[in-house]
Amino acid sequence: MTQAVYPVRAQFAQRARIDRAEYERLYAQSVAQPDTFWGAVAQRLEWMTPPTQVKDTSFALADFRIRWYADGELNASVNCLDRHLAARGDKTALIFEPDDPAQPAQRISYRELHARVCQLANAMRQLGVRKGDRVTIYLPMIPEAAIAMLACARIGAIHMVVFGGFSAHSIADRVADCGSKLIITADQGLRGGKPVALKANVDAALKLPGTNSVETVLVVRHTHAAVDMQMPRDRWYDAVVDSQPTQCEPERMNAEDPLFILYTSGSTGKPKGVLHTTGGYLVYVSYTHEAVFDLREDDVYWCTADVGWITGHSYIVYGPLANGATALMFEGVPNYPDVSRFWQVIDKHAVTIFYTAPTAIRALMREGDEPVQRTSRKSLRLLGTVGEPINPEAWRWYHEVVGDARCPIVDTWWQTETGGILIAPLPGATDLKPGSATRPVFGVLPALVDASGQVLEGEAEGNLVLLDSWPGQMRTVYGDHQRFIDTYFKTYPGTYFTGDGCRRDSDGDYWITGRVDDVINVSGHRIGTAEVESALVSHPKVAEAAVVGFPHDLKGQGIYAYVTLIAGEAPSDELRAELVRHVRAEIGPIATPDHLQWAPGLPKTRSGKIMRRILRKIAEAGSSQLAPDRLGDTSTLADPSVVDALVKERLAK
Ligand code: WTA
Repeated sequence: MTQAVYPVRAQFAQRARIDRAEYERLYAQSVAQPDTFWGAVAQRLEWMTPPTQVKDTSFALADFRIRWYADGELNASVNCLDRHLAARGDKTALIFEPDDPAQPAQRISYRELHARVCQLANAMRQLGVRKGDRVTIYLPMIPEAAIAMLACARIGAIHMVVFGGFSAHSIADRVADCGSKLIITADQGLRGGKPVALKANVDAALKLPGTNSVETVLVVRHTHAAVDMQMPRDRWYDAVVDSQPTQCEPERMNAEDPLFILYTSGSTGKPKGVLHTTGGYLVYVSYTHEAVFDLREDDVYWCTADVGWITGHSYIVYGPLANGATALMFEGVPNYPDVSRFWQVIDKHAVTIFYTAPTAIRALMREGDEPVQRTSRKSLRLLGTVGEPINPEAWRWYHEVVGDARCPIVDTWWQTETGGILIAPLPGATDLKPGSATRPVFGVLPALVDASGQVLEGEAEGNLVLLDSWPGQMRTVYGDHQRFIDTYFKTYPGTYFTGDGCRRDSDGDYWITGRVDDVINVSGHRIGTAEVESALVSHPKVAEAAVVGFPHDLKGQGIYAYVTLIAGEAPSDELRAELVRHVRAEIGPIATPDHLQWAPGLPKTRSGKIMRRILRKIAEAGSSQLAPDRLGDTSTLADPSVVDALVKERLAK
């Protein structure tokens, strides 16, 4: 197969931290002698007790363990803040760019950020939050989001951030699962000029069962809208925090003490509480942030993710701040006040490194080149993508129009579970191919297996597994270690199974082809088909539902729902709209079905298993592909006529 290759640019390589020879040398060392390699990398952090142990891991079920730096002690907030005060106290840690460009941006120095984190940490201690307690953070993209995470880290509380786009039900499920004591939220969020009712959502969540653990809700005054305050539960953030001392003794944390829980969707059941620990995670995100983004002291780094996702945790907060970098936090959206906003923000703050999602690139590409070209972007030197495969057309537009063919693009493949980037080019070392995440980063051993678990060599396509551990790997599913092992280590024993399909080309470069399980990737957000199905069947008029993904021009994948109503209920456009609203209320707007098709019956095997393969084909297909012979084998179905009915309904649309 011939592929366009964009060789490493000489000008970039000359100044890069890691060139090709260095990458090859370090990679070889990292896999041959992981203890030596990761022992040396760990010295980039400040330890209260330096670790003498490094890697202690096994994916074998009989001997399963994942421990890194197990006798080390440190505090993540000290590494992100205190450590920089001497040399970088006045350096800008965070630039806050508000939703409304007419409002002033804020620059927060490391010294100020340290003080504000200490104040909140003191306030939380006063509210009775102790090491190991869980704290829910449900905030917009404002500095308090990062401050809250770091304040938790300072006192050893485990933060659990809920993305601001999730509904009251989603908040309640997560709060109940992890039993949090405190919720930090805001009166409202603001996105594209529209308010988001954060406090009202928290109020609704706390009326739902299982949320009694919550003692206090701290409310940041952000838009200053009037909200209900239920005393003594609800407290204004400024009233509790502003009077606190600006110093706070950090908790000594073992490297394997939990740092945070972040819920993510899987192929079955409710979202899982992915648990990351302190030492390995921080080593890994700080090192990969420096290596993959070729970080320099004077960079202005902007990752457009929300802190509600892992990308925000690892590459807005922990990685950049552990590295003493200047990170931009953007409250708004790419098309407000107009579709030039991203590029305007780049010029306004002289951003040098820009990291975003393919879905945003595709949406902005549709607006043409002019909104980009009316800005300068001359400060940019490196671009990145994350969250889903990038189609080569979007890659080329990003490269040529946004980056003026000057900036390398790092296409970074990773997951909530992996903590940090696992497969990505290093901009001074790796030739780029549009659509390929290229090579593993240090210490990462990817492999492709076929359905039977046979490892495939050379040029091949199969399921992506990882043969050995890396420091940033999740340690457990909160409260359900067996689910952790069952989900990731049983499919292909002895390996971590990613859930992704992947191709390796003849040069050894990796091309992620997308999820091979029942997870849909909508605009870079993970949604489990099972979650949407259970939201649908929780509606009294729904008997059964099946949800699949289908290719979507902008979102990458869209959500396609088949719904069977209970006897006596008739399909109608009003009911369809009602069901869509119901899913939004149960999960959040990101789970809005793009299509909802009435299904008199669902295709099932004789043992009652829904054949999603057929549903996917019907959802995906243009009408010509819906001929019965194109749907594959339907002979194992209990009632093959069900398929004819579904196809007919699909064609009628
Ligand atoms: C997908 C986001 C192709 C993949 C950091 C993975 C990607 C899932 C890429 C994890 C990429 C992420 N190329 N696919 N560069 N990055 N993915 O947990 O399917 O929200 O399994 O973590 O996103 O999504 P998550």
